[in-house]
Amino acid sequence: MERTFIMIKPDGVQRKLVSEIISRFELKGFTLLGLKLMSVNKELAEEHYGIHKERPFFKDLVQFICSSPVVAMVWEGEGVVASSRKIIGATNPLEADSGTIRGDFGINVGRNLIHGSDAIETAKGEINLWFNEQELISWEPTL
Ligand code: CMP
Repeated sequence: MERTFIMIKPDGVQRKLVSEIISRFELKGFTLLGLKLMSVNKELAEEHYGIHKERPFFKDLVQFICSSPVVAMVWEGEGVVASSRKIIGATNPLEADSGTIRGDFGINVGRNLIHGSDAIETAKGEINLWFNEQELISWEPTL
């Protein structure tokens, strides 16, 4: 079954949007396999955002992700990677549709509340980077 990595960034945690964000994934019907509130060190942030290493915002982005706790999660479900991207909305909240997390609550591209893996392969790498096996529970809802 498909899995994705979702991170509520420091702005999402500071603005008390954790429950609102989690509920959107739950209500869609996805299954939570792992969740942790954590401080992010520079090495992890730089590796996670390595693809943006040459971009002018890279340093600020890494600094911001390390500035206060994030909530890291793994969600599972059919088409969860693409569906999560729809739930989250466009990278720039000013361009994100209403009804998406960024469209409803985001302020600007540097404070867009949440990260979601952009492809199935990326999700596998990000899940391995952020979680070890013991932190993930494989289970299926039966109710
Ligand atoms: P995310 O989905 O986590 O993936 C890369 C992040 O880089 C993105 O969300 C934004 O938070 C950030 N980002 C992208 N473009 C810019 C920009 N022009 N200025 C600042 N941050 C940016």
